[in-house]
Order: sequence, then C-alpha cells, then structure tokens
Amino acid sequence: MPKTNGARSLAAVILAAGQGKRLRSKLPKVLHPVCGRPSLWHVLRAAAAIRPERIVVVVGVGKEAVGEAVRSWGIRPEPLFVDQGRPLGTGHAALVAEDAVGGVDDVLVLAGDDPLIGPDDLRQLLRVHRRTRAAGSVIVTEVADPRGYGRVVRDGYRLTGVVEEREAAPEVRAIREISTCAYAFRRADLYGALPLVGRDNVQGEHYLPDVLPILLEKGERVSAVPIDFGGWAGVNSRATAAEAGRLLRARINARHLANGVTIVDPERTYVDPEVRIGRDTVVHPMTFLEGATRIGAGCEIGPAARIADSTIGDGAEVSFSVVRGARIGKGVTVGPFSHVRPGTVAAEGAKIGAFVEVKQARIGRGAKVPHLAYVGDAEVGAGANIGAGTVTVNYDGYRKHRTVIGEDARVGSDTMLVAPVRVGRGAVTGAGSVITRDVPAGALAVERTEQRVVKGYRRRKDAEQAGRTSEGE
Ligand code: UD1
Ligand code: CA
Repeated sequence: MPKTNGARSLAAVILAAGQGKRLRSKLPKVLHPVCGRPSLWHVLRAAAAIRPERIVVVVGVGKEAVGEAVRSWGIRPEPLFVDQGRPLGTGHAALVAEDAVGGVDDVLVLAGDDPLIGPDDLRQLLRVHRRTRAAGSVIVTEVADPRGYGRVVRDGYRLTGVVEEREAAPEVRAIREISTCAYAFRRADLYGALPLVGRDNVQGEHYLPDVLPILLEKGERVSAVPIDFGGWAGVNSRATAAEAGRLLRARINARHLANGVTIVDPERTYVDPEVRIGRDTVVHPMTFLEGATRIGAGCEIGPAARIADSTIGDGAEVSFSVVRGARIGKGVTVGPFSHVRPGTVAAEGAKIGAFVEVKQARIGRGAKVPHLAYVGDAEVGAGANIGAGTVTVNYDGYRKHRTVIGEDARVGSDTMLVAPVRVGRGAVTGAGSVITRDVPAGALAVERTEQRVVKGYRRRKDAEQAGRTSEGE
C-alpha cells in the first residue's frame, strides 16, 4: 500500500515471544521493567512515535500476560498479535508476522527486550535505510566487551559482513562494534530471504541476522546504522537489565536537567519516563518519581521521597516520605517521615507533617496535621488544626466510616475521633478525648475524667517509705 504522497508505507514488527531463560524469572522477559516500565513498553512507544501503518507484536511464551499488558498501554495504531507457537528463533518470529504485516513497503523488526531504543534511533535507521536504498539495514553499536557477538564489518554505512566470533580473524575480533536486533527491511526483500534462512547453528534456530548475508549474496545493498547506546548491547540477564536502567535513567534525568530542573545527584534519582517536573524544582537524592506523577514548578522534592501516580503543586515540599495516588496542592509541605496514601487531596498551603498517615482524605486549604496522626476516610476543613497523636478511628472491625472536621476546628492532641463523627466548624476537642458523638460548631467537647489533685501526696509517700525501710533494718 504505497502512500499517495510518495512516502513509503511502514509496519513495525516487535519480537516478544522468547522465554528469556537467562533472567530466571516467571515473568516473560519483555515484561521486565526498566525505569518502572516493561522493556516492551519502551519499544512499543518508540515504534508508535514514528507512526507506522501497523504494529505487529509476535507473542509466544506468556502470550496472555504480554497481550494483556500491551492492550492496557493504549498504543496507537492498536497492535496486532501473532502467536509464534514454538519460538524457533528471531528469523522464524519475523516470518510468522508476514500476513499481519500486509502489503507495506518497509518493515521495521525490533526486539521487544531492547528498552534503550528511542524514536530518534528508529528515525535515523529509516533515514539511512531509505537514502541508501538498502534492502535491509541494521543498527550497530559499540560495546565495551564484544565477546560472543558477531562483529560488524562496514565501510561507512555500507555493511559488508557480520563475522561470528569463532570465524573472526584477530583484526576483526578487535572490532567492538556489534549488530543489534533493530532492523529495517524492504518488505519484499525480507520475506523473499527469510524462507532461505536455515537452522544450522548451535541453538538450532532460524536467526534473523542470517537474512543479511543472503541479501548481500544477491547483490543487494545492506546498510549499517551506528548508534551509541553507552556500551550496552541488550537485556539478556538481570545484570544487563540493571545496566539498561542506569543508562535510561541518565537520559531521563538529562532531559529534566536541560528543562530547568535541579537534580542534586542524578545517579541517585530515579524518575520514570512519563513523569513531568516543573522548572526550578529541586530534586534531592534518593528520590523515586514513579508512574504518572506530575511535579509542579519551584518544589523541593526529597531527600528520600517516593512519589507515585501523584500530582504535586507548585512550591510544595516533600521530604523523607511516601506519596501514592495523591493530589498535593500548591505550597503544601509533606514530611519528614509521612505516608500519604491513595485518595488523599491536600489543598493549597496544607501541612502534612512528621509521622503522619493520610488515606482517602481531603485536607483543606491551610489545614495542618503537623505530627503523629492518622487521618483516613476524612475531611479536614480549611484552616483546621489536628493535634499530635490524633486518630480518625475509621474502622469498626466491619466497615470503614467517615470523619468530617469543620473549618478552623481545633482537634486537641491525642483525640480519638470514632467515626462516623463530625466536628463542627471552629469546634474544639480536649486533649485525650474519645469523641463518639458529633460536636456542634464552636463547641468544646471533652471526654475524660476530671483531674483530681491530692495535696501533699509526695511528702506523705516519701515519709511512709522512709518508715518502712527503718523498720526493716
Ligand atoms: C539478538 C540477535 C543478535 C543481536 C542481539 C542484540 C538473533 C539470533 N540474535 O540476540 O544478533 O546481537 O539480539 O541484543 O537475532 N524472540 C522471539 N521468538 C524467538 C526468539 C526470540 O520472539 O523465537 C524475541 C525475544 O523475545 C527477544 C528478541 O526476539 O525479545 C531477541 O531474542 P534474544 O533471544 O534475546 O536474542 P539475543 O540473544 O539477544
Ligand atoms: Ca536480547
């Protein structure tokens, strides 16, 4: 289906059927996370960014889990799945995708376990592939230790061969450039060559790289596109996955630094790919920003903050705390040492102080929960103050109940608010009270026995004690 505008049509085939034995995991390899997202997610996102007509995912091992994950990411165009059945190698995987690929001009073939591949790399691959009018092109990269990999022999963009380790002469062995598993092919050439790929190798598999010598022998042009992946060659083990995480993290952090975010120690700052951070925000070490988190401008985040799927308003501060599924308003302070759980909304200027747990609760504008409290299934009105040690007793052993605290209320230290219960606007509770009934606006509720004062107690006690010891002598 050549496009009417003269551009060549494109399909992307992602190979995701392998088992990943070397990871020693129940989870299929392509679902192993790198910077908080599965490898396959990174690859699909890169592929989708260059807008192919079709995306085909070849599945096999763990196909239900892989399919379910892919569908949950909302990738466009919606990927088609092809079941490889028995995984007989990368060449076989590309072959079984033929019908799903349809009649496009060009086909990208990518490994689903290669999270470092980005849209720019794919654009460069396609640019060179098309400009050199190649039948096939492959991304090549320099690695620190090329042992075990086929070495790339090329003249500029012109690939002349990939030489296997055991067949390599010393000068070829010295080459540190290897072939990755990211290819662009003219569809007709790929599917003309694939049936000719044999299984005469150590693993008895059909190797996709074997397409290249077949094309070269036919006198076709094959191109090599060098890309710098920081010495990394692919995720095959947990160690290489960790290394990929390190490289990807560095890239993500570099992007935020360039956008005007201060990251005090980028090697100790862990930011997922989709997190957004506003200008002049300072991110301190040992901070984890995860999932769909958005951080405003001018915030102080960390040290040691874990913020997941949350929104943090401009000028807020979060230190030594965990925040998940929360909306934190402008200028709010959280921590140190607090746990802000899903469903928390803290309005502008609120304070969630030290050793405070908040869950499914709205903390009003300027309201303060400064120390040692549990606020769950609750509403705290604007400007209210919650004393140290206060607990919203939300669970009766069967059900959860709500606590509603009015604006400007003063909840005394160590108040137990036994829900369902309401503390009215401006109301006060006495320290140490167990509040089981609603408190009207402006009222004081105290629930404890009145203090008794026994005069001269200490002197009498001391005297008694002295008498006893002298008797004993
Ligand atoms: C592959 C390449 C190698 C390249 C390296 C770069 C082959 C034979 N080898 O090796 O040239 O240097 O990547 O990282 O292509 N898969 C299937 N079906 C299969 C086998 C594999 O879908 O039958 C998928 C895997 O899930 C994986 C990808 O293909 O996502 C690559 O397979 P893998 O076994 O990881 O190949 P490598 O040994 O890394
Ligand atoms: Ca691999």
